[in-house]
Amino acid sequence: MCGIVGYIGPKEAFPVIIKGLKRLEYRGYDSAGIALIKDDLMLYKKKGKVADLEESVLGKELQANIGIGHTRWATHGEPSDRNAHPHLSNDGNLTLIHNGIIENYASIKQELSNKGYTFSSDTDTEVLLNFIQDIKLNEKCTLEEALRIALKRIVGAYCILLMDKNDPSTIIAARKGSPLVIGIGKGEHFLASDATPIIEYTKEVVYVNDYEIAIVKADELILKNLGNEKQTPFITKLDMELAAIEKGGYDHFMLKEIHEQPSTIFDCLRGRLLPQIGEIRMSGIDNNLEKLTSAKRIVIVACGTSWHAGLVAEYMFEELCRINVEVEYASEFRYRNPVVNEGDVIIAISQSGETADTLVALESAKEKGAFIFGVVNAVGSSIPRISHAGAYTHAGPEIGVASTKAFTGQLAVLSMMALRIAQAKGTISNERFIHLMKELEAIPEKVQDILKDTTHIQVIAEKYMNATNALFLGRGYNFPIALEGALKLKEISYIHAEGYPAAEMKHGPIALVTEELPVLFVATKDSYYEKIVSNVQEIKARKGMIISVATEGDQIIPSLSNDTMFVPETDEILAPLLSVIPLQLLSYYVGVKKGYNVDMPRNLAKSVTVE
Ligand code: AGP
Repeated sequence: MCGIVGYIGPKEAFPVIIKGLKRLEYRGYDSAGIALIKDDLMLYKKKGKVADLEESVLGKELQANIGIGHTRWATHGEPSDRNAHPHLSNDGNLTLIHNGIIENYASIKQELSNKGYTFSSDTDTEVLLNFIQDIKLNEKCTLEEALRIALKRIVGAYCILLMDKNDPSTIIAARKGSPLVIGIGKGEHFLASDATPIIEYTKEVVYVNDYEIAIVKADELILKNLGNEKQTPFITKLDMELAAIEKGGYDHFMLKEIHEQPSTIFDCLRGRLLPQIGEIRMSGIDNNLEKLTSAKRIVIVACGTSWHAGLVAEYMFEELCRINVEVEYASEFRYRNPVVNEGDVIIAISQSGETADTLVALESAKEKGAFIFGVVNAVGSSIPRISHAGAYTHAGPEIGVASTKAFTGQLAVLSMMALRIAQAKGTISNERFIHLMKELEAIPEKVQDILKDTTHIQVIAEKYMNATNALFLGRGYNFPIALEGALKLKEISYIHAEGYPAAEMKHGPIALVTEELPVLFVATKDSYYEKIVSNVQEIKARKGMIISVATEGDQIIPSLSNDTMFVPETDEILAPLLSVIPLQLLSYYVGVKKGYNVDMPRNLAKSVTVE
């Protein structure tokens, strides 16, 4: 989850790199650094934010047309100046930045120490750098060849940028498991972990593939595989606008992205959901319909908010497609040696497409013969590249660490998937199919209705912002939304919150209920409605403070609640797309009122690319 930026060309490298690192800070950081080459190698690095680094180099020598920069999220070695990247090789010639983990670094470090190498940091990155130096020295080979040999011997994930002070015209880059994008300029090249630092300079980019090495000069880009065979760079045209990255007038990216949801859900449905002609068209599904309809089992692997989308999908696929579905935390699935049979369908849900836990879960399932379908937001990211098929959520860059618009994008894609497969299997009547398509088509406007006036949610946030605990309860399709609401409150306002199936309260957690405990019910009108009314009454009888998400026009739930947030009526299968919106807003306003950095909450990173 570190951020990487490199530049080579006629411009001053320092400002390009610093600005790029600031655009990448959302990926997670605890330190930052930059290396430049002019007549000598200049290396500056510091614990803290990029702005702290920028301040620390004021007045220093910064003139150069080639450089690499890095924002770090610690994996090996605590956040500190010495552990920040870039690192310097023992001979003082080479410098390297790295995003990822070298799993066998300890044995390599021991080998190098026995040869007399010394280390000024606790990082795996510095080990890799000196390993490269050692190979270059002993094999009497080029830096590129030394890197190739080293990469074949290390185990783990990496995106690296490497420079040699004796060759100020070249940056060597390589990736496996951590993303790398190269921007193609006129007589210049930009390198970064994603497109955000590049887009203001060029829209032509190359997504480097795993096991590829890039030799980058101002006017030349050579791609090779680890077998030293040249690869043809595939140039993609970015369709992101810089404005899409800026906050667009909102106080925070998170609020902007919550308010983008009517359009991002619309974009997700566009060209795919066609109720006028009674069709859903998704090439990833249509081209693999037989595999998807004949599957005996679907396993959904994901993490965090994406895992909650998986839980909603479980209810949808089982109800509509009559296929057995299991939802797995990716990190658990990978390590418990799961039963995966030929023909099983694995759906990976991920906003970033780079989550290491999800990636590695997929790789092991793929080896066992499963069909991998990726539901991802970040175009060109790693998960789509290893999937057999997939569907993008088209939510655009999600900068806020807390996932909001990507989550509803996932629900929109999964709803269309379930409907399309059910139609193909004949497990849904045409009448219900058309009804649900029309309900789905109306969702963007209903989300817009919720967002029209949020002042009452701000009042509720003010009222409960000093709570120290909260419970979120829901049933059926709203149970995963209770979990999602709890996660949002935790990660944005740092208030401890737990989500539960509402009926589960009587099996223990109801002991927690006091007059100080806010209990949030996700209680929209659905087939569980009478049941959840009873659950609300159970809490009310124990003087719990009740905040509800209810359907517009409902009288009963509001009469039992201290506060109510309303959403428009829709089919219960699609209710999560609406009931989550007030909970996203509630966590946002509580976090803001508590004065927290809601876009970059403490300890969190946007893309968790370490296991
Ligand atoms: C969501 O608000 C969290 N930031 C986090 O749980 C996130 O959903 C999780 O890390 C998975 O990320 P992904 O969707 O990019 O795979």
